[in-house]
Amino acid sequence: MKFFIDTANLAQIKEAAELGVLDGVTTNPSLLVKETKPYKELLLEICQIVDGPVSAEVTALDYEGMVKEGRMLASMHPNICVKLPTTRDGLKACVTLRKEEILVNMTLVFSPLQALLCAKADATFVSPFVGRLDDVATDGMDLIQQIVTIFGNYGFSTEVLVASVRHPIHVVQAAMMGADVVTMPFDVIDKLIKHPLTDIGIARFMADWKKGGQQL
Ligand code: E4P
Repeated sequence: MKFFIDTANLAQIKEAAELGVLDGVTTNPSLLVKETKPYKELLLEICQIVDGPVSAEVTALDYEGMVKEGRMLASMHPNICVKLPTTRDGLKACVTLRKEEILVNMTLVFSPLQALLCAKADATFVSPFVGRLDDVATDGMDLIQQIVTIFGNYGFSTEVLVASVRHPIHVVQAAMMGADVVTMPFDVIDKLIKHPLTDIGIARFMADWKKGGQQL
């Protein structure tokens, strides 16, 4: 299972990369504008830190505009993965860009049929947004199960990238369901490491060791 970080913040990306378990990065327009650097500079720096797919989203909404922006983004670095919204024009742009061997991440997926269309359009990744479904009282992880089952039934190579992840339970469930990738904000990655019993265990071992008076 691949772990991506869902941010454009260089400090957070560096810190997560140092853990040695980071496989890629996802950004979106909302995340890019939170940072002060111009987006091109930022994306190139991200590509220097992480040797894996770095998703960068188009802002055009029409086919021609998406293809033009997609080609421009992809020309910046071989690891740039063009993020396209799952719309009629987005699907068409996906087919065109994939024929040019450009990596494509189809975003804002909220139904199994959208995911199936993206797979048929040969998307590299499909990004179902689980947290945003949870927000409207619909279990986002049910969608992941449906997509994993459908892709498995037909042997699609499109990878299921679980997005809009809000907490570690999403990650556990995604792993149990066999999703290919989870993209998480930094705070969720941090929570994956922590367990109160680990901290209590360390404190107890250290206290006992100190009482023994020995040194390593
Ligand atoms: C994924 O690629 C998106 O950038 C992201 O996961 C959206 O998450 P949000 O719903 O927390 O904004």
